[in-house]
Amino acid sequence: MDNMTPTDASAEAQAKLDRLMARGAAFLGTRYAVLGGAMSWVSERNLVAALSNAGAFGVIACGAMMPDRLAEEIKATQALTDKPFGVNLITMHPNLMELVEVCLAAKVGHIVFAGGIPPGPAIKRAKEGAKVICFAPALALAKKLVRSGADAIVIEGSEAGGHIGPVSLTVLAQEILPHITDVPVFVAGGIGRGEAILSYLEMGAAGVQLGTRFVCATECVAHPNFKQAFIRGAARDALPTVQIDPSFPVIPVRALQNEGTKRFMTHQAEVIRRFKAGELDKDAAQLDIEHFWAGALRRAVIEGDVENGSVMAGQSVGMVSKEQPAAEILAELMGQAQAAILARKAQVA
Ligand SMILES: Cc1cc2nc3c(=O)[nH]c(=O)nc-3n(C[C@H](O)[C@H](O)[C@H](O)COP(=O)(O)O)c2cc1C
Repeated sequence: MDNMTPTDASAEAQAKLDRLMARGAAFLGTRYAVLGGAMSWVSERNLVAALSNAGAFGVIACGAMMPDRLAEEIKATQALTDKPFGVNLITMHPNLMELVEVCLAAKVGHIVFAGGIPPGPAIKRAKEGAKVICFAPALALAKKLVRSGADAIVIEGSEAGGHIGPVSLTVLAQEILPHITDVPVFVAGGIGRGEAILSYLEMGAAGVQLGTRFVCATECVAHPNFKQAFIRGAARDALPTVQIDPSFPVIPVRALQNEGTKRFMTHQAEVIRRFKAGELDKDAAQLDIEHFWAGALRRAVIEGDVENGSVMAGQSVGMVSKEQPAAEILAELMGQAQAAILARKAQVA
């Protein structure tokens, strides 16, 4: 043991990492137990295939796509990779059941239900041809989802980019990982380096899901302005949307602060003033607030308007420093996890 060469030692560290990732990787059918979290407009054929080809698990973000469009995206992704990938469906999509059929017809191996608790029939039908992954925001819901047939769970902390819950991954992981052991649990939110991946695997996670860290992959089609905003952004710039009046609830979304986020505050204040003045009824006022961000993610990701669009990003954005191929990002993450294993071994010795 003591006269191991550095190559032996790093092979041993990789073997330990592989053991920690074994359950998650077997579930996904991948080399690494790493999911590329679905990101609307960002996670399309190119990024998804690049991640899967590099040994991770790419996930297409269906978002608001209609069934025909999703079928086309899956087919195009299959043309770019023969490795497994998944499709993320938003549970409130009006054509949810049709979208499930599209995934099954295309032989997609894993369906991820996001944005709420999926209806029982959707889980049941999806399981007839695919493995089902669900998001659980709390332990009781994780247990319920497992009882309803979820084959794996993702827990996503409030550090994440996009729509978020109120609790950090640090706490969710402690609350949920020790108690959900029947199915693999993947953790997401704020993960930017391999040391963090290692520590969550050691806590019992089957694997991890990262979104923010993959936005600046060379293969990702996001507009150069969107990528530059990530490269420049620091953790403190990626903040949740602020709701100014509890009577008019706002779904929290973590995004980089810009002109749009500032205008959203004045917009809410103005709508509420008009409501109080009797110019708008309550429903119209609520809708007006909700419509503020309609199309805003596309505006930032595709058109590159990072001042007025929604630049959804997680707190790990500060760890994004350059554009690099997906395979290089993964190699970096795995290298950091390996180095952490070696450093711990040296500490113990
Ligand atoms: C730009 C952006 C768009 C996202 N869109 C979606 C989405 O459409 N569906 C979804 O389930 N999660 C979405 N997410 C969340 C990611 O899938 C992933 O869980 C999250 O990014 C993980 O946290 P991290 O950003 O700290 O790595 C989005 C995240 C970002 C940054």
